[in-house]
Amino acid sequence: MPFQLPQELASTPTPFYFYDLALLDRTLAALAAAARPGGYQVHYALKANSNLPILERIRAAGLGADCVSGGEVQRALDAGFAPGHVVFAGVGKSDASVNLALAADIFCFNAESVQELEVLGELAGAQGRRARVALRINPNVDALTHPHITTGLEANKFGISLQDLPAVIDKLATLPHVELVGLHAHIGSQITELPVFGELSRRLNELQTWLEDRGHRLPHLNVGGGLGINYQQPDTEPIPDFAAYFGTFDRHLVRRPGQQVHVELGRAVVAQCGTLLSRVLYVKESQQTRFAILDAGMTELIRPALYGSHHHIQNLSSQLPAQPYDVVGPICESSDTFGRAVLLPETRRGDLVAIRSAGAYGEVMSSAYNLRDKAEAVYR
Ligand code: LLP
Repeated sequence: MPFQLPQELASTPTPFYFYDLALLDRTLAALAAAARPGGYQVHYALKANSNLPILERIRAAGLGADCVSGGEVQRALDAGFAPGHVVFAGVGKSDASVNLALAADIFCFNAESVQELEVLGELAGAQGRRARVALRINPNVDALTHPHITTGLEANKFGISLQDLPAVIDKLATLPHVELVGLHAHIGSQITELPVFGELSRRLNELQTWLEDRGHRLPHLNVGGGLGINYQQPDTEPIPDFAAYFGTFDRHLVRRPGQQVHVELGRAVVAQCGTLLSRVLYVKESQQTRFAILDAGMTELIRPALYGSHHHIQNLSSQLPAQPYDVVGPICESSDTFGRAVLLPETRRGDLVAIRSAGAYGEVMSSAYNLRDKAEAVYR
């Protein structure tokens, strides 16, 4: 069904984020149904959207939490996630955030370097605890997605490179407060070519055998997140194909008996349930271009400016014949553009515009640049 704003929200001051909680619930039900047969443990990546009403539904659906800062660990705990369902990833974990997560006794740290393992061991020892750790390896697999959100290539800062693995294993033997429980990898985000997950699985299979040959049996494998969504046509595919996603791992990842496989999905869970609503402030025509100037900008949704990302844009107020518009925000930056030559029905000052698929990496990446107020979030 095409997007419609509930009537009672028509006079809500713009810009604002609208979250369709019924769609979130349907997405969570589809995810649970697809994950259940293979026994996959799903951790929701809080970085995609950390609003409490959303987190509470995700937690109630039985997902765990994937966090990348002390703030996110604290938010997950505040939202009621059990510490045993929290994982902590990130290439630069601060000592304060590690201490917070150790004190909460979270399930696992995804560790990214020899130095990080040493620090984890030291801080865990000081608290009289053991840190459970999965080694985040950099598998050197191309996720075939946008370069800014590719994370599993040698050139990226993330993970332990394969040639460093022997040194890491030697180091672990000297760290009594660190317990190796798994392998972790995350190769990128907005991945729509599912075979890359097959490639990742093959790499993990090889590494697992290599570790077993050295006496390490791992109870957990974590394949990260990254499943993409349909930004072009959100209404034809409001819920991603979770069955195809898990099916790829079913076919390619070789599991040991009793081994648990974890995934860390963010975007695929929350992107489609969020819409940014904005009003047209002005329509301005130059020689070559007709601009629709919105009251929302890169301060509310930075993805188009930062990655050139496409978001489907609709004028909810006009039924007039369509014309091309450059849809832009009010911020003093030329990159503050949501789309160029977007076909919209003839657009006028005051029209309500919906920018779709904004539930993930939208509100969380907003800023107060130009001293702008934070957009409200509305839930239905
Ligand atoms: N696990 C790790 C270790 C990650 O770094 C990420 C995302 C995820 C899981 C969740 O990935 P997802 O399932 O959401 O693709 N701001 C960018 C996306 C950055 C993703 C960063 N890492 C965007 O707006 O496209």
